[in-house]
Amino acid sequence: MSKSKNTPPRSDVQAAARQTDSGPSEVNTAVDTASQQAVQTQDMVAEMPFNPNKAGEHGFDNGLQPQPGVTVEPASRLPTGSTLSEENVTAKTGTQAAEGVNWTIEALDRVRVDSSGQALTTNQGVPIADNQNSLKYGVRGPVLLEDFILREKLTHFDHERIPERIVHARGSAAHGYFECYEPLTDITKAAPFKEAGKTTPVFVRFSTVQGERGSKDTARDVRGFAVKFYTDEGNWDLVGNNMPVFFIQDAMKFPDLVHAVKPEPHHGMPQAGSAHDTFWDFVSLMPESTHMLMWAMSDRGIPRSYATMQGFGVHTFRMVNDAGESVFVKFHWNPIYGTHSLVWEEAVKISGADPDFHRRDLWERIEAGAYPEWELGLQVFTEEQADQFSFDILDATKIVPEELVPVRPVGRMVLNRNPDNFFAETEQVAFCTAHIVPGLDFSNDPLLAGRIHSYVDTQITRLGGPNFHEIPINSPLAPVHNNQRDGMHRQAIHRGRVSYEPNSLGGGCPFQAGAAQGFVSVPARIQAKEEQGKVRAKPEKFADHYTQATLFFESQSPVEQAHIAAAFRFELSKVTVPGIRERMVSSLRNASESLAQQVAQGLGMAVLPDPMPRALENPTAPEVTRSPALSLLSRPGDGSIKGRKIALLVADGVDGQSAMDVHAALFAEGAVPRFVGPRIGPVKTSDGVAVDADASLENEPGFLFDALVLPDGAGVAEALAKDAHTLDFIRDQHRHCKAILVMPASAKLLESAGVAPELPSGEADPGILQGTNVDAFIEAVARHRHFERETDPPSV
Ligand code: HEM
Repeated sequence: MSKSKNTPPRSDVQAAARQTDSGPSEVNTAVDTASQQAVQTQDMVAEMPFNPNKAGEHGFDNGLQPQPGVTVEPASRLPTGSTLSEENVTAKTGTQAAEGVNWTIEALDRVRVDSSGQALTTNQGVPIADNQNSLKYGVRGPVLLEDFILREKLTHFDHERIPERIVHARGSAAHGYFECYEPLTDITKAAPFKEAGKTTPVFVRFSTVQGERGSKDTARDVRGFAVKFYTDEGNWDLVGNNMPVFFIQDAMKFPDLVHAVKPEPHHGMPQAGSAHDTFWDFVSLMPESTHMLMWAMSDRGIPRSYATMQGFGVHTFRMVNDAGESVFVKFHWNPIYGTHSLVWEEAVKISGADPDFHRRDLWERIEAGAYPEWELGLQVFTEEQADQFSFDILDATKIVPEELVPVRPVGRMVLNRNPDNFFAETEQVAFCTAHIVPGLDFSNDPLLAGRIHSYVDTQITRLGGPNFHEIPINSPLAPVHNNQRDGMHRQAIHRGRVSYEPNSLGGGCPFQAGAAQGFVSVPARIQAKEEQGKVRAKPEKFADHYTQATLFFESQSPVEQAHIAAAFRFELSKVTVPGIRERMVSSLRNASESLAQQVAQGLGMAVLPDPMPRALENPTAPEVTRSPALSLLSRPGDGSIKGRKIALLVADGVDGQSAMDVHAALFAEGAVPRFVGPRIGPVKTSDGVAVDADASLENEPGFLFDALVLPDGAGVAEALAKDAHTLDFIRDQHRHCKAILVMPASAKLLESAGVAPELPSGEADPGILQGTNVDAFIEAVARHRHFERETDPPSV
């Protein structure tokens, strides 16, 4: 509608402006702002004699095309303000609110604090003269209640902790950006995918699920992979995991799953571990978990680092283009540096030596400039294709095999900035699957539906009220204008008296955006008549609990299959009730007879229990029975050794020049070489070239490294052999199948450790390089592990 005309003021409007009990009223409209405000308000309101949008709010078709709200441009800013006194300015009030701006958003600079050169103050800004002593009545007298400085400090400290997340409590995060390779406008209007080269800031938090906030990083567990995109059309959170499937199919079972896997409620054990009765009791009664159990018991459950694990959106989502057409989509994050894992014994040892292993790795990679990077891939398919699949795409326990729908790379994500403050950013970040932007939408996955509710709900408790979206790390870069008001810890100071819509007193603002700009849900498709009734049930294909568990197991390399069997053996050996072990083995028989046999044997089960009755006796034949993409070994990454931590053992007698040369060669490849000696500090080199050990055999044991170099130099082997840690170091490197460069003087160290340079088959071990060929060693490190060496139980 048009701007108010300058009609002569009505006397009743002027009279209204004089309705005041205590302030002197004026009637001269030339100078009287109260009266001007009343006049302009009346003019603005008169422009909206009724709500012209009302008729368009009804009916299905209108529901798909909501109209933009109606607005009136006021004659000046007077009628929309809260107060006539806003023109009075102090250093604190500042000027009037900038027109159309919400300053609680914008870059984090607005809340960064740097105290360089500043004196200590209280939270009220009062300089603190003495931060060493409380206020006493005499030097030896009692402390006084009046000491507001002491009390403020203690009170704040007393409330520093907030509740930890109910799940995914342990995590680490970093800032970065997402860059789109090419416009995806044919399938989505979502802001990050609009142009080639467009970048969108992201904040990514990785986490474990089971453990408490202070628990170890290297537990066998699912890892959270939550990405917050600060798009120019609002925040989009892709809250995924490092495994593409989940334990359950319906949100109704989530609290049961979490109660089962968390430390048992009577004694609070075990911390960050699923190897206990309640977890296996639950999952052995929930055969739909079998597929996810395969992933969790595989090496994916113990990643080498956050930078070397895949991420998945898990559920089927939708993408929607400008024309309102929608396709289904699955999200995949693929690490550029390869998908690498730990081996179980190594993970166990690391959890003792460095419980922060993954947190440290992420932090140090970024500090060193070796930025973690992933490619985002999409599996895009239509509703018609989905109808043909042998499985249901609404079932979060199923993947869409890459053989059926290839993964299309669409962009890359780089994490290049560590947070300034763990609590303010990593702890207070609030992800939510409900945070999506125009161009994206949900599927009817019943697990996803529960998540859309749960995250904000829990964050109201965790972050202390409904205004946590204003915490700087959570606020979007896109403008925020609505009529939500008040609540604990509100920061926005809204100008004006309007906090409802529709309105005419605020000129109709903030107005509804309408279909062209705003978020519109894809109309849900309900195909079959019987689905239109209210029902608590699952679709039929959800009952196929084993086909994809079999697919996963059959797609693994023999060594990966052996690791899965060993993981089931370990976890179930910690279960104290034989009936639960048997139940689990009976279920595994439906997924893989050979796996069930290996597990049963490992558990000393003489007779295999009968296979568990299946919920669906004759599932639809699967499209693929083997998918190489599911094996970790098929994802070596770019073949570089960037970010690999390599130990160069040193001690008195080491050939300093050769040690420095190997160090330089590894460093040049982007690896993280470290000199490890019997103690930290300088060693006496044979050639006088200075070498300083920056780690010791005691403080950085062998299992913390990806590869090992045994040094050259007269007497160095003898010096190292005096410390039994050296032999443990070599044995762990060997047992965990890592590459070892054995320089000539150190051949005897290998022997003393009982390590043979051959494989169990008698062939030369390609991971043990004798001599000085660093290039060959680098190639061996790039393979990450040399599993040909592995035996169960270990031979060394
Ligand atoms: C109905 C099923 C689920 C429910 C009710 C649920 C609920 C929750 C809750 C309450 C939190 C804590 C959030 C917070 O305090 O900020 C959380 C965290 C998380 N959930 Fe779920 N979850 C479910 C399934 C899943 C699935 C299937 C995935 C993976 C696709 C997943 C991934 C995550 C991640 C990554 C986090 C950590 C987010 C962060 O880093 O802050 N959840 N979940």
